[in-house]
Amino acid sequence: MPARRIEGYVIVSADGMLANADHVMPDALKFEGDKNFFTAALDRAALIVHGRHSGEGQPNSPKRKRVILTRGVAALAPDPSNPKASLWNPSGASFETACDFAGVHSGTVAIIGGPAVFGMFMDRYDTFWLSLAPKVQLPGGEPCFPGVPQRSPQQILAAHGLKAGEARVLDPKDDVSVTPWRRLTTPSA
Ligand SMILES: NC(=O)c1ccc[n+]([C@@H]2O[C@H](COP(=O)([O-])OP(=O)(O)OC[C@H]3O[C@@H](n4cnc5c(N)ncnc54)[C@H](OP(=O)(O)O)[C@@H]3O)[C@@H](O)[C@H]2O)c1
Repeated sequence: MPARRIEGYVIVSADGMLANADHVMPDALKFEGDKNFFTAALDRAALIVHGRHSGEGQPNSPKRKRVILTRGVAALAPDPSNPKASLWNPSGASFETACDFAGVHSGTVAIIGGPAVFGMFMDRYDTFWLSLAPKVQLPGGEPCFPGVPQRSPQQILAAHGLKAGEARVLDPKDDVSVTPWRRLTTPSA
């Protein structure tokens, strides 16, 4: 069993977008139930990993250990603006080295975007939590994963060996739900 679990989190519109055409997550994609679900998950995580524009900006954010992807460093460096954060360029250091640098050797690592960062971990998620806002459309927006909209987010997760579990309703009024996509494990002999 690997000591670190890798879990992904995103909320997407019906057309598979995580942000609008201006690369901004619009209020139309923000829902109380989903926010509470996401906040609780991040509070439990040992480490949060995201691209430079995808910080969660929550009250508890300063308490959370994080690794921020950027080409502004060669490999790994402390973030001069946040004592809990490390800056990581994957072309200069592996993910395992980045976790070790952050001092996180076990527990859940939460991957929270953006699209390229989600794409990097597609073959490594233990679980990907896909929240869906089926009444929201963001035409011309920013696709949640590389390969959307040619394929749906669900088709991409399935193509990477993940299987949908039971959806949980988070915001009944807007039909917002979250579905855990779990990696299929080989049954032991
Ligand atoms: N709906 C949701 O659940 C959700 C989830 C996540 C994000 N979002 C939103 O979607 C938008 C995403 O922004 P974004 O597309 O700009 O993505 P992003 O991944 O947050 O930021 C991109 C930046 O991250 C760094 N980066 C990304 N991949 C890298 C790599 N392979 N190697 C080194 N550095 C890398 C680069 O930083 P440097 O420029 O410093 O090199 C790049 O400019 C934001 O508005 C965010 O709020 C929404």
